[in-house]
Amino acid sequence: MNQVPLQVNDVVKSFGGGWSASSVLPWRRNGASHGRRVVDHVSFEVRRGEIFGVIGANGSGKSTLIRIISTLLLADEGGVRVFGYDTVREATPVRALINRVSADPSFFRNMSAMENLLFFGRVYGLTAGDVKRRTPVILERLGLEWPRALEPMSHLSRGQQQKVAVARSFLTSPVLMLLDEPTTGLDPRSKRDVQSFVRDVQQSHDATILLTTHDMDEAELLCDRIAFLSGGRIVAGGSPLELRQMVADGRPLDSINMETVFMELTGRRVEDDEEPAEEGEEALIHG
Ligand SMILES: Nc1ncnc2c1ncn2[C@@H]1O[C@H](COP(=O)(O)OP(=O)(O)O)[C@@H](O)[C@H]1O
Ligand SMILES: [Mg+2]
Repeated sequence: MNQVPLQVNDVVKSFGGGWSASSVLPWRRNGASHGRRVVDHVSFEVRRGEIFGVIGANGSGKSTLIRIISTLLLADEGGVRVFGYDTVREATPVRALINRVSADPSFFRNMSAMENLLFFGRVYGLTAGDVKRRTPVILERLGLEWPRALEPMSHLSRGQQQKVAVARSFLTSPVLMLLDEPTTGLDPRSKRDVQSFVRDVQQSHDATILLTTHDMDEAELLCDRIAFLSGGRIVAGGSPLELRQMVADGRPLDSINMETVFMELTGRRVEDDEEPAEEGEEALIHG
């Protein structure tokens, strides 16, 4: 097996061309025939055992990239390899090596966390015994009290639900973890719990982690290397220290925070949305 956990090679993805709402519904038409490019010639490699961060504002293309890597979406151009396997032609071995946590995980809401984990464990090929043995250990490390794992998911807070999502993704000990904004919208305590769990797993298991976030403190705290994504393009990449050096211009490095680095390298603030206005709204404004 090729030892490079993830190679993203010149990936391009557009939305809105072909059979999309904008081509079928006349009131959604925006005049463009080829759609809007949201991932624009992205390339990077993630090394074994590292936490690699993709940092960008809302709408910069992070989730689209993660969906392409996790075989859920096809790129228009370019390719992705996971430990050497092509995500399109060899999707089955790729799926066995990766797992993904998204910011809005889906569960059976009327079932408890434990019942959900038993169900998904079976989908991943684990026995009920495996799941029952591993779950309490993982949930404890995430700071979710055991009795809560037996209540319906709908009774849990968002932070607690997200912890169950993280637990689910680590049940199978995947070798490449894709964490898509795992802490967005969490309360500070849950955020810290999830962050320290991620770091623990990186250090104690042979796991490689691709993490997206727009939280600069999280990026700084967790990531060995970072790529800044802006308008679907990687505009800079390196370790937090290297990124600081790129903009330092004689200033002492520890006086520059990641937010400043992002702003100077991308020309925008990470808090600002990149989402374009709704096509309908635009039509109203111009019409
Ligand atoms: N299935 C889709 N169809 C059309 N547009 C999409 C689709 N998925 C994402 N987009 C658009 O692509 C852009 C990037 O989205 P996304 O990858 O979710 O960004 P991020 O995760 O960085 O917030 C956004 O403008 C979003 O509206
Ligand atoms: Mg996203």
